[in-house]
Amino acid sequence: MIGGETVLEVKGISKYFPGVQALKDIDLDIKRGEVHAVIGENGAGKSTLMKVLTGVYQKDKGEYLFEGLPVENPTVQQTIKMGLSCIYQELTIVPLLDVARNLYLGSLPLKKSGIIDYKKLYSDSREVLKMLGMDLSPATIMRYLSVASHQMIEIGRAVIRNAKVIIMDEPTSSLTTRETQILFRVIRSLTEKGIAVFYISHKLEELTEIADRISVFRDGQKVATFNNDEEVTHEKIIGLMIGRKIENYFNKQQCRIGDVVLEAKHLTRAGVFEDVSFSVRSGEVFGFFGLIGAGRSEVMRAIFGIDKLDSGEIYINGIKQRCTSPKKAIRAGIGLVPEDRRGQGLILKLDVKTNETLIKITEINTLGIIDRAGEEEAALKLKEQLDIKTPSLRKIVGELSGGNQQKVVMSKWLMMNPRVLVFDEPTRGIDVGAKSEIYRLINGLAARGVAVVVISSELPEILGISDRIITMHEGRVTGEMESSKTDSREVMRGALGGRREADAV
Ligand SMILES: Nc1ncnc2c1ncn2[C@@H]1O[C@H](COP(=O)(O)OP(=O)(O)OP(=O)(O)O)[C@@H](O)[C@H]1O
Ligand SMILES: [Mg+2]
Repeated sequence: MIGGETVLEVKGISKYFPGVQALKDIDLDIKRGEVHAVIGENGAGKSTLMKVLTGVYQKDKGEYLFEGLPVENPTVQQTIKMGLSCIYQELTIVPLLDVARNLYLGSLPLKKSGIIDYKKLYSDSREVLKMLGMDLSPATIMRYLSVASHQMIEIGRAVIRNAKVIIMDEPTSSLTTRETQILFRVIRSLTEKGIAVFYISHKLEELTEIADRISVFRDGQKVATFNNDEEVTHEKIIGLMIGRKIENYFNKQQCRIGDVVLEAKHLTRAGVFEDVSFSVRSGEVFGFFGLIGAGRSEVMRAIFGIDKLDSGEIYINGIKQRCTSPKKAIRAGIGLVPEDRRGQGLILKLDVKTNETLIKITEINTLGIIDRAGEEEAALKLKEQLDIKTPSLRKIVGELSGGNQQKVVMSKWLMMNPRVLVFDEPTRGIDVGAKSEIYRLINGLAARGVAVVVISSELPEILGISDRIITMHEGRVTGEMESSKTDSREVMRGALGGRREADAV
């Protein structure tokens, strides 16, 4: 739906953080029932603008109008009351409470006597679940549900609070293709009710599918807003985002494939994965494809010594390893760039350089010397190679944009010169320009003789960068193929457990 009246409008909004002009003179508006998509490179200012709207940050200057009325530096509580809801990446679900109580968190229906009206709570909740297309009892405890369902409950909560504008900041980054389609159905039913949705994502296919209008941000400025009509192409959006064209997107080159570096034999962890065997050669990019929950990350966590194996053997250069802890795995030459960068890869309160050199420091400390100058130089080089947008290496990592945090995790591992480097969803939440850089880096590692393993849920990505691919489904290997001799159908079939694509949807 498009052409409704304007609900929210900002004019000339600017926001400065020490060292960065995060927003410069932003004009933006959203209409009733509209999906307005916002896209831009990592650090372009998308999340910052949304946080100004919701009152998390205060603007330095500019006008903010909600339903035509000026809003002066509101608090988060005030913006919720006004009708603004944000579905954050870090969800605010209480896992031990049931669905109904999570939906009505902070606004439980009460009887006149002041006690909770359970009858109303559960019958209202059932209505909301129906609207969300969720076939679920409102008495289900949240912790038993998937991330996708958690997100739906957050959306339900926004609807209950009578939100007029709902902000979704990278809502699909941990959703499967099917879950994304369900989310889109819910978004459409919201817009039919007249609710407006700001939709932030790095996935171009999604934007062009769901958006009515698209705004492109670059370096804190809005470079364009346009209707999402037939004339909009991905090239156009990418061109606006990065101000140049990307040639040779995947940067795939054939590297010299050498001896087997990592060999995994019959790895099993009861109830998680079973009888997983594969080998990766020096100079090879080995892709692990599967849907979320297939057990790919779990296999890598076990190889890296985070989780225990029940049986199976791991060899590095033909020598059997007992990787019973990450420390031992690192010593054996294995690196893992994890998927959950906030939880596993970074210390958010420390600065960029310290994070990058974390592993190195523990290594060098045992010898008693730290080569500070060498470290600084290496860190600066990586900042440039990966185009990490930070005013300095001293900036606290928690203050970088999501995608730039991901790049810091990566530098950390590149610093230790591993023999095997595992990337778990390396480009999740990363913009297209930086994606291409990361592919170049992966290829560069392979060219230097590193055995590279990449876990990905994105089909074009896995086909574009790997030499060989194995597919997993429900904890088992379902296929192994050479990328040059396969196609997306065959790979998808493996991920679906050998079934044909059509049967699964
Ligand atoms: N709390 C903060 N303190 C200091 N700087 C910040 C803070 N929040 C954001 N920034 C800076 O503002 C700029 C814009 O960041 P923002 O998070 O808005 O980017 P983004 O467009 O959402 O990027 P991404 O796609 O990576 O999520 C970045 O340079 C970031 O480092
Ligand atoms: Mg962001």
